[in-house]
Amino acid sequence: MTSEEQRTDAASRTPAVLVVHGPNLNLLGEREPEVYGRTTLRDIDAALAALGRELGLAVETFQSNSEGAIVDRIQAARGRIDALIINPAAYTHTSVAIRDVILAIGAPCIEVHLSNVYKREPMRHHSTIADIVVGRIMGFGADGYLIALRAARNLAGAAGGAERK
Ligand code: DQA
Repeated sequence: MTSEEQRTDAASRTPAVLVVHGPNLNLLGEREPEVYGRTTLRDIDAALAALGRELGLAVETFQSNSEGAIVDRIQAARGRIDALIINPAAYTHTSVAIRDVILAIGAPCIEVHLSNVYKREPMRHHSTIADIVVGRIMGFGADGYLIALRAARNLAGAAGGAERK
């Protein structure tokens, strides 16, 4: 492929975004609805897929209650995604492994929380990834993911797409 063809190829391919949901977010809709709202994870993922189609993004979503599975999934996306959106849930406050894998893959990352963690217990005020993400969106409930996807679209556009490895 000539360099001109490579440029055209990169410009024409659909930017990819991975959305990762951490532990207990599979229970959204039932779990502490006064804190997290009544929208289910299935509804959030469907809304992300629909907005992704509108924005011209390939959106993959993944939920796990296990730190290692989250690390494995993000590693598998290395070189294949243009942006990462993550709500690490409780691992936000503890996980060095998730911080390290975000640094390892090098894709721009947006941190999302349904609740405004600063209105809650002090243990939730610390995030192991706050200083390595592009930005943090919190306190808007399920809408926060859609705000993040719009931001991810702009990041993917600004970067001209990831160089897939
Ligand atoms: C959360 C906030 C975390 O403190 C908590 O452990 C969660 C969800 C949020 O989306 O507001 O599980 O990340």
